[in-house]
Amino acid sequence: MKLRHVTSINDLTRDEIETVLFLADAFLKQLGDPEDPNRIGKSTHLCRGSIMATLFYEPSTRTRLSFEGAMSRLGGNVISSANSAASSAAKGESLADTVRMASAYADLLVIRHPREGAATVAAQYAGVPVINAGDGAHEHPTQTLCDLFAIRREKGALQGLTVAVLGDLKGGRTVHSLVYALARFGAHIVTMPASGMELPRHVALRLRHEFGSIFLPSKQLSALHPLATGAYLPPGATAAPQKIDVLYVTRFQKERGAPSLLDYPVVNADFLSPPAFHEALVLHPLPRVGELAPAFDTDRRAGYFRQASLGMPVRMALTALLLDAAPDQSLEPSEGGFCQKSETRRETSLACSNPNCITRDSQEIPNTEPKFRHDPAGPGALRCFYCEHEVT
Ligand code: NCD
Repeated sequence: MKLRHVTSINDLTRDEIETVLFLADAFLKQLGDPEDPNRIGKSTHLCRGSIMATLFYEPSTRTRLSFEGAMSRLGGNVISSANSAASSAAKGESLADTVRMASAYADLLVIRHPREGAATVAAQYAGVPVINAGDGAHEHPTQTLCDLFAIRREKGALQGLTVAVLGDLKGGRTVHSLVYALARFGAHIVTMPASGMELPRHVALRLRHEFGSIFLPSKQLSALHPLATGAYLPPGATAAPQKIDVLYVTRFQKERGAPSLLDYPVVNADFLSPPAFHEALVLHPLPRVGELAPAFDTDRRAGYFRQASLGMPVRMALTALLLDAAPDQSLEPSEGGFCQKSETRRETSLACSNPNCITRDSQEIPNTEPKFRHDPAGPGALRCFYCEHEVT
């Protein structure tokens, strides 16, 4: 039986994402706090006897606390390695060895790592399911599940909604997982990058060639907002969006090596005064560091703290599903996933061109054989198996 891992939002089919959101909703209904409709206030015993290991090689507050809180609410136990300086990684231990060993201690691994593709390496060596809690600038699939749940609860169906993503679209992994999911659910995506922080080329290529999005350039969006550099519409759509239903704000990812921080947009009541934003739900994966004014928190459009609260039922749902402990619901025990995963090619003579790919980490080289997939961007195009960058 193949294990299920969630290293990318694209490891889950649309139906499976629906199952996670359905179960999250059921948890909120059964275990919700009567005083706060977005808060889990009670526990269950669904995962009694199971152990989650959280392996965090990068700082985290929300993600780790909500995973660990979710497992506690499910009646399970948590073991944690949250400080890479205090773990064996500092002695030179490879990720492959760490996850092999952690698989003997726990039933589910949740991993965060500064390198793109790290969760995929972990999944290759783990004997239990792996959840990616953020790998470098690659993806953060469980944040996207929280984002989709928040949008659904406040705006209804995702199909046809216009979601603008603003800020560091280059280094922000939450944005990468989110745009893939939005494209797959038929939403319109508008990009509003800070200067020099556009979506990475491989993400933009995938939106167009793999998810069938139609690209509209900025000149067709000038009536919408001066910061809009492009829009990705669902297949068949042609009209430029006229208003923004959701504004997804992100911080500058200073830890991802971007050179400078010039003209970073600041979202406040003034920024949101044009009619296009009149009904916009404002979300942010948090933490914020100046790009979203605290004075805006009392505005009816501010949804980010409710969004953070929803991390709990969503992570409970995914955890219960991966441990096959959810009543009447399960994920197929197969590789699954939305992507028609193309054949993998071993190319020992080729190296991934992304310097932050896990395959470029000297500690990991012996366990990360160079592997590539065919890229739908064109005949002969290849994509790194681990970090998913196109290979030039
Ligand atoms: C995000 C992350 O770690 O990518 N935080 C989170 O998990 N909510 C966003 C960020 O750090 O900017």
